[in-house]
Amino acid sequence: MNLIVCKNYEEVSAEAAKIVFEQIKQKPDSVLGLATGSTPEGLYANMIRANQAGEISFRDVRTVNLDEYYPIRPENDQSYRYFMNQKLFLHIDIDRSNTHVPDGTAADPQKEGLRYEQLISDLGGIDLQVLGIGQNGHIGFNEPDTELDAITHKTDLTPSTIAVNSRFFASEEDVPKQALTMGMRSILNARKIILLACGKEKHTALQHLLNGKISTHWPASLLNLHSDVTVICDTAAREG
Ligand code: PGA
Repeated sequence: MNLIVCKNYEEVSAEAAKIVFEQIKQKPDSVLGLATGSTPEGLYANMIRANQAGEISFRDVRTVNLDEYYPIRPENDQSYRYFMNQKLFLHIDIDRSNTHVPDGTAADPQKEGLRYEQLISDLGGIDLQVLGIGQNGHIGFNEPDTELDAITHKTDLTPSTIAVNSRFFASEEDVPKQALTMGMRSILNARKIILLACGKEKHTALQHLLNGKISTHWPASLLNLHSDVTVICDTAAREG
């Protein structure tokens, strides 16, 4: 596992952007696995800036997002589809038909999981997956448990995730209780992975990733099974 420790959030975002740009320069039609949450916003801002400055094009890039609340409509301003449009897709030259998020309106979540897996495979697999990490060690919405799912599936959010995500909602009751998320295999199949972690709240989860041990109770720790993971964190997340 490669570890890049940065002074602050801006540096983390810039380092992540460098890796994304390098990937797209090497393969202009790369498949990027993308994440929502506060952490990747700085990366997305860097992508928008570079695109608008004419330094990089996303014309041929395809994207697959990690997760989506369930059930939720894409127009809902709390949906991850809405987040991605607002924070990135509407501001860059990507073809929006090449951007994919699990369908929060799917009548049959199990079928949707299989469709999403087939989609990723039809795209040729994920070249570079961007991840955040939950305070509880989740990646995507793969929540700590005695068993984890391999493929895209519907999941219950843990009370701790609902509490952490309630900052985006009027009240904790408004936070969706379920989500669709890529599974551990969907993520581990990516050719290259970068995980971004900022702030002391992420320290414990990061420790469980960096200590080289694997536990389903700290889902991010399964990234130790992958041979090309780069963790980019700030000193607060590293030192606590
Ligand atoms: P955050 O979320 O970037 O908003 O901290 C990360 C996550 O829950 O995976």
